[in-house]
Amino acid sequence: MKFTRILGVAAALAAAVAVAQEPATEPATVTAAPEAAPAPTETLEADNAVAHRGDAQAGAGKAAVCAACHGMDGNSADPQYPKLAGQHERYIARQLALYKSMERDNAIMLGFAATLSAQDMRDLGAYFASQKVVAGVADDSVIAEGPNAGMKFYQLGERLYRFGKADGSVPSCAACHGPAGAGNPGSAWPNLAGQHAGYTANALTAFRNGTVWGKGNNANAIMAGVAGSLTDEEIQALATYIEGLHNAADAPSAEALAAAANAEG
Ligand code: HEC
Ligand code: HEC
Repeated sequence: MKFTRILGVAAALAAAVAVAQEPATEPATVTAAPEAAPAPTETLEADNAVAHRGDAQAGAGKAAVCAACHGMDGNSADPQYPKLAGQHERYIARQLALYKSMERDNAIMLGFAATLSAQDMRDLGAYFASQKVVAGVADDSVIAEGPNAGMKFYQLGERLYRFGKADGSVPSCAACHGPAGAGNPGSAWPNLAGQHAGYTANALTAFRNGTVWGKGNNANAIMAGVAGSLTDEEIQALATYIEGLHNAADAPSAEALAAAANAEG
């Protein structure tokens, strides 16, 4: 029921955005549409052990062991390891709890989560949430053949991200993750902006194949429902669009870029 209601809101938002947007144009570094009201959300929890709001400073110490893969500031260099910088505290805590209970299946992360307490998870979450994600660049190569021939990959991704699929089988991602990909901190809905395309594509492929993170009361089947009818090409397009997505407000100003260019030259 709730899912249907949220998707209804998604459709309404997508329609509103459709009126406001110009067609996609050139730059390969994509900027976001203006922030709209987020879809109504319900908080996701995985670990009901008592924990207080995370302490970023305590988390910084605990994060040293994570740096080899995720980077000291949460901007991993290797695309198989997700960026954690700018990710929400509750989302990180939820995923760590799911790895620990093996409700999200990953042998590597099971090893690192197994010894963490609920408070450690919140502290780590608070630390990474306090870091700034460094976005990548979206793929502006042209799709050679098939139904989307002639479009650039990131343009297809942008259209799907903002409006979903025209046949209604895939909702607008922006309705839940926000036009700038920032998600919703309070409800543990993840920030997507700037994430490595390789990681995002893996996650979307797993969701399409029916993967649900969490079991019983912790299960959240939203993404399995969302991704069910995405093609490989659409997944690739969404993933590269998301990698280049960043909040326009956070982007360096034209002046700053010019100054940097002058300093280099
Ligand atoms: C040896 C490499 C490695 C180390 C060290 C490591 N991780 Fe991970 N981490 C991974 C991999 C690989 C994944 C992706 C797993 C998957 O697809 O579920 C991941 C995924 C995650 C996720 C899920 C991200 C998302 O967007 O859903 C979180 C949160 C996370 N790690 C936190 C941590 C924390 C906190 C530490 C330190 C205590 C840590 N990791 C240490 C390899 C590592
Ligand atoms: C109805 C709300 C909703 C919509 C619409 C939605 N998502 Fe999600 N998405 C979520 C939630 C909630 C999670 C967290 C799942 C969990 O913790 O089990 C998530 C997780 C994800 C993740 C995993 C992030 C990570 O760091 O591992 C990706 C990638 C993602 N969504 C992409 C998309 C894309 C692309 C679309 C559009 C095609 C989309 N989502 C539409 C709610 C939504």
